[in-house]
Amino acid sequence: MKKFLSVLLALCCVLSLFSMTSGAAENVTAEENISVVLQIGNSMMTVNGNTLEIDPGRGTVPVVVNDRTLVPIRAIIEAMGGTVSWDEAAQTAVLGYNNNEIRLTMDQPVAYFNNEAYTLDVAPATMNDRTMLPIRFIAERFSFHVDWNGEEQRITITGELSNSEPTKEPVITPEPEEPPAPANAHALTICFSATGNTETLAETVAQAAGADLARIIPVEPYTSADLNYNDNSCRANQELNSDARPAIEPLEVDVSQYDVILLGYPIWWGQCPPVVRTFLDSYDLSGKTILPFCTSGGSGIGGSLSKIRELAPDSTVTDGFRGTSSTGTAQIDEWLRDNGFVRETVGEPERMAETKVRLSWDNNEVIVVLEDNATTQDFLSKLPMNIMLEDYNNTEKISYLEEALVKDETAAGCDPIPGTVALYAPWGNLSIFYKDWSYSNDLIPMGQIETGLDVLTAMNSDVAVHIDRVE
Ligand SMILES: Cc1cc2nc3c(=O)[nH]c(=O)nc-3n(C[C@H](O)[C@H](O)[C@H](O)COP(=O)(O)O)c2cc1C
Repeated sequence: MKKFLSVLLALCCVLSLFSMTSGAAENVTAEENISVVLQIGNSMMTVNGNTLEIDPGRGTVPVVVNDRTLVPIRAIIEAMGGTVSWDEAAQTAVLGYNNNEIRLTMDQPVAYFNNEAYTLDVAPATMNDRTMLPIRFIAERFSFHVDWNGEEQRITITGELSNSEPTKEPVITPEPEEPPAPANAHALTICFSATGNTETLAETVAQAAGADLARIIPVEPYTSADLNYNDNSCRANQELNSDARPAIEPLEVDVSQYDVILLGYPIWWGQCPPVVRTFLDSYDLSGKTILPFCTSGGSGIGGSLSKIRELAPDSTVTDGFRGTSSTGTAQIDEWLRDNGFVRETVGEPERMAETKVRLSWDNNEVIVVLEDNATTQDFLSKLPMNIMLEDYNNTEKISYLEEALVKDETAAGCDPIPGTVALYAPWGNLSIFYKDWSYSNDLIPMGQIETGLDVLTAMNSDVAVHIDRVE
């Protein structure tokens, strides 16, 4: 009975029932079916034969905009046992009912039902201080049936009781927990960009990740008329609405060679563009990790991820990242790191076996295997050298070099462990860690101690050290 009353209340309020009374409930005879009738321009409606005000005391009437009916909705959803919350900053109404959620943003023709984007024929609007929302879209998403009688300008909404109790709180499907991207993986940045923003971001992402870069190129390029999303019939909108798969040129890289795909695209109506779907359909990405990123006019990337997960079911799809054409590497590094991505260090083992330096003082010796980057190349060119090592923070031994080293920004970013040798770029000092320390974008990794960590750790005063190359 509780369930019955909830749904009755809900539907009694299909057009803003602030003053719904139990009297109306008593008159409903069909226990499993509800019928609500309303008429354009009429402030009254009938609920299973009972006449009620749509918006008590206010005289609000349903209006038609662009062939769609808009109504005030708050009381409807609340009476359904659902919830309405209002995000003032985002100008978005969040409707929750029966474990489902609809998000509608004022003046935006894109709505989200359980995070899936839908194009609306008419955007939510404010009229006479009332928030007017598209009733057909909402009722149908929440599984009611909507009929339109054009001659009588009448809308009839019918529904059946759902099997589950309505929830008081909107339930948002949580993003699945994803395992992190494999460390030290071979990565490819691949992007689609219609007007260049995402391509610029993709170049920065590729640089930050040390990844190769490739582009998704539509066989038929998009003209500006194709991208005019204000025109319902523009190519981009049509392709999205029909879930099309526009043809793309074969990629200029062999995707099978990569473990990680950094996938970039512009947001189109909250989604990834159809050519990205073509890419996901056309290439075998099973077993790979996909890190999605986007540019947009303001929308987040969240709404586009479910489609990517749907089209790449055997891939690990991580959290997405929204940037702009001027996003810097620091933000990208953070996203990569948060999703378990570690820059590849291809070819390093051979190099490390070859290039070692020796730090010596008194009868002590520390051997460091060097990384191969512009900073270590410069360091090698300055050897032999004499430095003073001092303790810093009970964590590392540091030395301010007489001659500044080249700062290889492309190699920057280091998560020191005991024995890590790095250049701290802001101050230009050499840092030799004997304790674990946190990741820093400002550290340029130079190498790792192979032997002698114990004597370095035991150093208890400033020491003059000689450094030369091990031949
Ligand atoms: C068809 C179409 C739909 C769009 N939909 C949205 C949207 O829903 N939200 C948003 O913030 N921006 C939207 N935009 C704006 C683009 O996401 C934004 O301009 C993006 O940076 C373009 O990237 P590009 O230069 O790489 O093509 C849309 C653009 C087009 C062409």
